[in-house]
Amino acid sequence: MGAHVRGVGTALPERVVTNDDLAATMDTSDDWIRERTGIRERRVGGTTGQLAIEAGAKALADAGVDPAEVDLLVLSTTTPDQRTPATSAAVHAGLGLRCGAFDVNAACAGFTYAWVAANGMMELPHGPRRVLVIGADALSTITDWTDRSTAILFADAAGAVVLEHRPEPNLLGWDLGADGSLVPILYCDHGDTLKMEGREVFKRAVRAVVASVENALERAGLTPDDIDVLLPHQANIRIIEAVCSRLGIPADKTVNVIETTGNTSSATIPLCIDAARSAGVLHEGRIVCMTGFGAGMTWATTVVRW
Ligand code: ACO
Repeated sequence: MGAHVRGVGTALPERVVTNDDLAATMDTSDDWIRERTGIRERRVGGTTGQLAIEAGAKALADAGVDPAEVDLLVLSTTTPDQRTPATSAAVHAGLGLRCGAFDVNAACAGFTYAWVAANGMMELPHGPRRVLVIGADALSTITDWTDRSTAILFADAAGAVVLEHRPEPNLLGWDLGADGSLVPILYCDHGDTLKMEGREVFKRAVRAVVASVENALERAGLTPDDIDVLLPHQANIRIIEAVCSRLGIPADKTVNVIETTGNTSSATIPLCIDAARSAGVLHEGRIVCMTGFGAGMTWATTVVRW
């Protein structure tokens, strides 16, 4: 069987924060941020739950699926609104769902982890037939807005897909990984803000993503040349360029949103799915590779026949 995308929805806060806005309050510049990260502006505002409900409702409307027809909600977030319950509980109520719901926290790899979990659960006896998978993060709530090494990167958004069980298999390969010894290079304690060793994260991210894509492709019996569309986590355009260059994937096969969204963690891959669909590159039968990495460190890749 396969978990096929039937609908997509996104949510971005209204407030735009430009690089010049940041340069007005800290020692940085539009030139530096654009050149070193690829980010021009980002959206800030709202809670994880609010953004997730908006994106989820749009995905359901796009799919033409009634909330009562959803069999499972999986919400990926690094920034839950409360310590307990899971943010998926509030989103469940906000969307009027009647199914099971749980959160996944695998940082920026979370949406891809959630996709693989949803696909796997569909294969269980009596497994869900329609799963709403949402990636939502309000990273601005855990960002130190006086720290130029992190404030230039992080922002808020949500993206959602309705996955539907169909007989044709479409998850050709996948890879989920973690290295908990790397917690100290990127973490956020309760009540505190994100702490990051940027250069180290950069280096490790490139290595982890390249290896993860290679593993997923090998399981699929494919090579990088077979990828039609690459939807990578949006943390830094230079990470994406380095990954493409090492894998030999032409840069024009990627769909990126980072320039106007910044790093929105769990939301970045569904934002890219939406952008890829708008750009008309997600034709049926195409080989689409989604790959993310994040705090933990965690990494996750799926190779899907669209
Ligand atoms: N504006 C101007 N100068 C800056 C800024 C800034 N915002 N930030 C750093 N600098 C300076 C540094 O002080 C340093 O100056 P020096 O040479 O005089 O010491 C110089 O610029 C270079 O600093 P680096 O840290 O080496 O800059 P780098 O090119 O590595 O860019 C960045 C920093 C953007 C943080 C990069 O390392 C990066 O993107 N790392 C990966 C981050 C990432 O992916 N995080 C998300 C993980 S996913 C998740 O789970 C949330």
